[in-house]
Amino acid sequence: MVRVESVRGREILDSRGRPTVLARVRFACGAVGDASVPSGASTGAAEAHELRDGDPSRYRGLGCRKAVASIDGPIARQLVGRDWAGQSDVDRALIDGDGTVEKSCWGANAILAVSIAFARAAASSSGVPLHAHLASLVPAPRSVLPRLTINLFSGGKHAGQQVAIQDVLIVPLAGSIDECLAMAFDVYQAAADLTRRRYAARPLRADEGGLAPPFPSTDAMLGDAADAVRSAGLTLGRDLCLAVDVAASHFREGGLYHVDDDRLDSAAMIDRIARWTRDFGLVSVEDGLSESDWEHWPELCRTIAPAATVIGDDLLCTNRARVERAAQSRAANGLLLKVNQIGTLTEAADARRAAHDAGWQITVSARSGETEDDWLADLAVAWGDQIKVGSITQSERLAKYNRLLEIERETRRPLHAWPARVPS
Ligand code: PGA
Ligand code: ZN
Repeated sequence: MVRVESVRGREILDSRGRPTVLARVRFACGAVGDASVPSGASTGAAEAHELRDGDPSRYRGLGCRKAVASIDGPIARQLVGRDWAGQSDVDRALIDGDGTVEKSCWGANAILAVSIAFARAAASSSGVPLHAHLASLVPAPRSVLPRLTINLFSGGKHAGQQVAIQDVLIVPLAGSIDECLAMAFDVYQAAADLTRRRYAARPLRADEGGLAPPFPSTDAMLGDAADAVRSAGLTLGRDLCLAVDVAASHFREGGLYHVDDDRLDSAAMIDRIARWTRDFGLVSVEDGLSESDWEHWPELCRTIAPAATVIGDDLLCTNRARVERAAQSRAANGLLLKVNQIGTLTEAADARRAAHDAGWQITVSARSGETEDDWLADLAVAWGDQIKVGSITQSERLAKYNRLLEIERETRRPLHAWPARVPS
């Protein structure tokens, strides 16, 4: 049992300069945990409710004073001065206290900040690293470190929609996080050179730090990624692989996917993804179809799995019921886990358990709006097969990579074997 002595919130700014929430939980034993929450741009319709002030005269309505007031008011009243058995106990009190399905009363941002700050304080009071504490909250925690999936090129909502798909990622196949990051640096520099040469453009960065030149087409975006790998002196399929987050919910209108100049129905979109998977050796495809196109996801899965993992992000929203539905209909075989889509660690653990029971891959993911907090690295070490943080630029991303380097040095764990290295 731990006794909570105080719970306080405050407004801070995220990597896009927008307000977000930080919570501090203090136990009577003196242990303290801080946590700040991220925020997405390409959000799923089924995500938990991020409470914003809506006052247009301040931060264009994006202020988080109401969420902070939830923490300092009703959440503190619920938690302070009581003894708590653990994370699920506290999360249950937060869920019940809010009382709405989408957490719109207190705000999922307020609730999640407290949920994670409580976990941090609990780890500190038991004298274990956060990843070890988070591992104790789930069945089948991971004993190998998560494989890095690193944003190289950005499009879609993260880069002004110059091309439909949101991310082209590289997946270095080296045997340590240290080596994977060094490889990613070489590819990123080669991609920046290519951006200058091919597009006469400055290598400007999108929300997650990826490069975003004015690609003439989606195929060009993927082809440029393959070229950057080659000019870094590396071989696709041997040294590293490519992956994509299509984020297709955000370019489907009137039942058709708008890709470059084409208007594709679901079958044609699946054909297009199958061709990309073949031509560029993609090892995972996230949100290849829209969140409302449930009926075609099984066909996508039959077409590209097991060559590529079929990951659901907007489709699943880290929601156990949606993961179970997708597992039953064989609509996906990978979960993108973003805790702020659901709002507490316990509910995210439930979604993970459903994905794990179905034999899926689990990718623990950052959001496009992040902070310098690094809890995501610990979460990915405990719960994930992969981690998706964005690019290897910008401090809000590097905080997570640097924490992974620290955990690698301390634990000397090997890296997850996915995707299996192609024999040369
Ligand atoms: P978001 O994007 O944080 O803007 O939702 C990340 C993703 O789609 O994976
Ligand atoms: Zn996504």
